[in-house]
Amino acid sequence: MNEQEVKIRIKELTDLINQHNYNYYTLSQPTVSDFNFDMMLKELESLERQYPALADPNSPTQKVGGQITKNFIQVKHKYPMLSLGNTYSEEELREFDERVRKSIGDDFEYVVELKFDGLAISITYEKGKLVRAVTRGDGVQGDDVTANVKTIKSIPIQLPDGDYPDNFDIRGEIFMHRKTFEKLNNEYRKELEEKGYDEDEIKEKLYKNPRNFASGTLKMQDSAEVAKRPLDCFSYFIYADNQVAQTHFESLEKAKKWGFQVSDQYRLCKNITEVMAFIHHFDKQREHLSYEIDGVVIKVNSYAQQRELGFTAKNPRWAISYKYKAQSALTQLLKVTYQVGRTGAITPVANLKPVQLAGTTVKRASLYNADEIERLDLYENDWVFVEKGGEIIPKVTAVDVSKRGLFSEKIKYTDVCPECGTTLVRREGEVVHYCPNESGCAPQLIGKIEHFIGRKAMNIDSLGSETISGLYQKGMINNYADLYSLTYENLIGLELETYNEKKDQLTKRSLQEKSVVNILQGIEASKQVPFERVLFALGIRMVGETVAKKLARHFLTLEKLASANKEEIATIYEIGDKIADQVVKFFADQQNIEVIKKLKTASIKLEIEDELGVERSSILEGKSFVVSGTFTISRDELKHLIEINGGRNIGSISKSLNYLIAGDKMGPEKLKKATTFNVPIITEEEFMKMINKS
Ligand code: IVH
Repeated sequence: MNEQEVKIRIKELTDLINQHNYNYYTLSQPTVSDFNFDMMLKELESLERQYPALADPNSPTQKVGGQITKNFIQVKHKYPMLSLGNTYSEEELREFDERVRKSIGDDFEYVVELKFDGLAISITYEKGKLVRAVTRGDGVQGDDVTANVKTIKSIPIQLPDGDYPDNFDIRGEIFMHRKTFEKLNNEYRKELEEKGYDEDEIKEKLYKNPRNFASGTLKMQDSAEVAKRPLDCFSYFIYADNQVAQTHFESLEKAKKWGFQVSDQYRLCKNITEVMAFIHHFDKQREHLSYEIDGVVIKVNSYAQQRELGFTAKNPRWAISYKYKAQSALTQLLKVTYQVGRTGAITPVANLKPVQLAGTTVKRASLYNADEIERLDLYENDWVFVEKGGEIIPKVTAVDVSKRGLFSEKIKYTDVCPECGTTLVRREGEVVHYCPNESGCAPQLIGKIEHFIGRKAMNIDSLGSETISGLYQKGMINNYADLYSLTYENLIGLELETYNEKKDQLTKRSLQEKSVVNILQGIEASKQVPFERVLFALGIRMVGETVAKKLARHFLTLEKLASANKEEIATIYEIGDKIADQVVKFFADQQNIEVIKKLKTASIKLEIEDELGVERSSILEGKSFVVSGTFTISRDELKHLIEINGGRNIGSISKSLNYLIAGDKMGPEKLKKATTFNVPIITEEEFMKMINKS
């Protein structure tokens, strides 16, 4: 490289690293593997060393990393939160050991610990009481997340009596167990599905891994929400003005004794060979841990020796982290296929020569969109690296260009729908391609019917996805209204052939008496589903469960909603232009109108049915309520009254809450919070007056 090229490369690396730092710390949405990130950082460091004149004083290599988010109060750390130097190679680790021995001789020990993959936290205790918890931020100052940290069970709020100093900080790592992550992410998926998001939007919104979920959780504004998402913490460092121990090992024992959770997985090692043995052991064992680790931390045990070794500009010289590479495998691309979602969104998929990766066989990996294929510069039959990282779906991370065939052709993104042949469109500003053939493209039609029968929609649980696609293949249903024309005679004995994706094969079965009766009963029962759920079931884009409720309550009948104009819809509280556009578009489509006519003939509820004697109104439109305590009627009844008069029930008190309805035996915390935020507190009687009931 000549100097001009070096300059360009430095600029390129700087921009990339800054962008990745922002994605990781501020958005909590990393888009690069740790390994690739560290390699970029190392390349930049090396170029800056070789060409010091070209090094920018604000280079990302000079920072600990991290950005501060705006929403929390900023607190300066009493003891800066440094990061550790890291390495992926045994050779570099031995070099670290050489440096240590050169400086302090051979008479020392290491403590090795796991490097937990979470978020660093610094917690201040005064006289045994937790007073503050602050994230790392940029290492100098971070976010005050005390309220959120107090919800973590493994972090004591008050220590029992003990030999701890009056003032000390404890450092640790906040993380989420894998099982919790899977459970909560699945629940979050359901919530998003029920809100009407399509698969691509869901994939984008879901948390990518436990670290990502923990970080999103810790930065939430409402600590009551945080408490619902169990986090955990391992403590690993004590900072105090007067030392509490002579060695790191002892201080870990102290932390344990005072009531902190310290991982059991730490060892004293006499030399680097023992350190390596620990590293190798956990490289294998880590997949069996209930939480994720991304490496091992190696620290010189004696504090006196730590002081002797001191610090470089960024890192301690007495510690280093050895990071495990994300598990990856090299395999060959067989072909790129394209999946079509309910909304017509196209997802390219890499079909691969099966390869073993972290205990499972990988045959497919997501390629996300056309831009990603372009970024990878993917050619036919390329050899590609697939990684699992912490993510659920494996992804293609890079191409081994040296293995590329001489006459290979570049992958050309499809311009027609793989299912129906329609020319794809790419809307302005979006990365995803869509098939616009909403009313003639099989996966879109099947997807809409699947949504219609969903639990929160028409709840026809006797019908599953496979039966739906089987019936569609047979030409018996083309849209959800066709379900209501199915009869015993045309279902009984019907041979259905469906493709089972998991088994990767076609399966055949014929419908028997019992399932036919179940299916027909389920369909019949759905005629009792209230209008607001029917509206959700129609699958209008952006009309999730909550929006459907609002629209139903405002317009009362489908007919009125269908003839409303955009302005009328958009002015409803929290609806807005984008949703209104989608609603208008849906009812402007004559095919949708035909389907709705059929639903009407089948006696599906297309208007709100009032309970006898209950009057609805929009008197409370735009107003939010928290109900607390006991009343002359049940709390559920009270909440129902709020809803049928257009108000919203909220779980917790915030500044923007409109009213707290206070009953007997209301919780003192709620009262205190409402007073602090100046939220009007009203009685049951006052509320009844509001809705003209007394
Ligand atoms: S000790 C000055 N021990 O790794 C030493 N860190 O780059 C301070 N981490 O920010 C760190 N597990 O978030 C230490 N057992 C462990 C750790 C650990 C995870 C994280 C921590 C820190 C980063 C170091």
